[in-house]
Amino acid sequence: MPEDTLTITDNRTGISCTVPVKNGAIRAMDLRQLKTSPDDFGMVTYDPAFMNTASCESRITFIDGDKGILQYRGYPIDQLAENCTYLEVAYLVLHGELPTESQLHGWTQEVAGQTAVPEGIERILQGFRQDAHPMSVLASLVAALSTFYPEAKNVHDSAVRRVQILRLLGQLPTLAAYTYRHSLGLPLVPPDASLTYPENFLSMLWKKSEPYFQANPVLARALDVLFILHADHEQNCSTNAMRSIGSSLADPYMTMAGAIAALSGPLHGGANEEVLKMLDVIGSTDHIPAYVQKVKSGECKLMGFGHRVYKNYDPRARIIKRIAEQVFEVTGRNPKLDIALALEKIALEDEYFVKRKLYPNVDFYSGIIYQAMGFQPDIFTVLFAIGRNAGWLAQWQELLTDPAQKIARPRQVFLGHARRDFVPIGQRGA
Ligand code: ACO
Repeated sequence: MPEDTLTITDNRTGISCTVPVKNGAIRAMDLRQLKTSPDDFGMVTYDPAFMNTASCESRITFIDGDKGILQYRGYPIDQLAENCTYLEVAYLVLHGELPTESQLHGWTQEVAGQTAVPEGIERILQGFRQDAHPMSVLASLVAALSTFYPEAKNVHDSAVRRVQILRLLGQLPTLAAYTYRHSLGLPLVPPDASLTYPENFLSMLWKKSEPYFQANPVLARALDVLFILHADHEQNCSTNAMRSIGSSLADPYMTMAGAIAALSGPLHGGANEEVLKMLDVIGSTDHIPAYVQKVKSGECKLMGFGHRVYKNYDPRARIIKRIAEQVFEVTGRNPKLDIALALEKIALEDEYFVKRKLYPNVDFYSGIIYQAMGFQPDIFTVLFAIGRNAGWLAQWQELLTDPAQKIARPRQVFLGHARRDFVPIGQRGA
């Protein structure tokens, strides 16, 4: 009968130790018993970029990157995208179970009741330059919410937490829409609690002087599905930031501002904007082979390709490709789709990409849809943040209710100077 243990021999000392294996993992702390002398600190693991370190136990999202599987609370992403609204999925991600009809109704009403942002937010928004990047503005406005809701710092009070979760779900689309309107110099449109989540967002974005904004149902549904596809993705860079900041017991607004900052980077959520810039640079299908050559020679990356976890087709990219067709029937075809499809075809057959298991990720097609819907590229990552909101909040809540968690504080392998004495400025060399 095999035992669920791992025996390690430290060849520096010849001493062996046996450590338990639970759920396929050993506890890094168990390695500390490996010492070369009694005053040795003990063995640590060195894992830059967390390539093989689990920082938590989680019950929210499952990914099998080799098989291209993504499930929220056990439900396959394609089934959720097909059958649910974003708020239904947000409920699932946050509560662990799909809501009943009455729970969903109550939940939707509660979120709709929290869509108005504090008055002071508008004054803060006016202080930003019109050409400021929307992600920088969004992160700042979310951090600013902390100043209006000081009770939010009681993060161990589940009732207080629940109110902040509802506020963030309700207010993030409003902040995003205000950010967008500000960047265009347009007057702000307040939220309308009688509309669905995506319709209300589209109304706050596009409403002009008409008394009632009628969102195109295909576009509203496409946006809702895009939010679902982005709702959570286990321990990605921004979620790790959310958990890391949250572990200090900072309030959820300050914590989420950090997650939004992490999402803004071009290697993470910012990639959807970069894909569009790349397609602009490529310009036409004739130029693809030369561009692919540049990628292969290391001059640039193929944005929207590759993933730390997926070594197969990103299941979200497959669903997005389908939505693109529906959106284009309303908006007309985005000519960039032809470049993207041709680029994907070439890349998927090219040995460089095949060998490295580089496939299109969620960002490869999302930007093309957003652009067809009328969004400017610099707002794409803001749309990603609206979807990821549910996952960030669920992961934050899971962190705070997990007795195994403490403040996140990694170790380092120190390679700097040993102790040395101070040198007065006049005696220092050039
Ligand atoms: N284009 C060209 N080559 C790539 C790409 C790419 N997009 N991605 C990875 N590679 C190559 C690397 O150069 C490396 O090659 P090497 O073995 O010859 O050195 C190999 O593939 C492995 O790549 P890593 O950088 O080690 O993979 P890592 O897991 O660290 O990075 C990441 C993952 C950041 C997503 C990377 O694939 C990338 O930069 N992609 C482009 C940006 C992007 O689309 N990001 C969005 C990710 S999805 C999201 O966050 C929502």
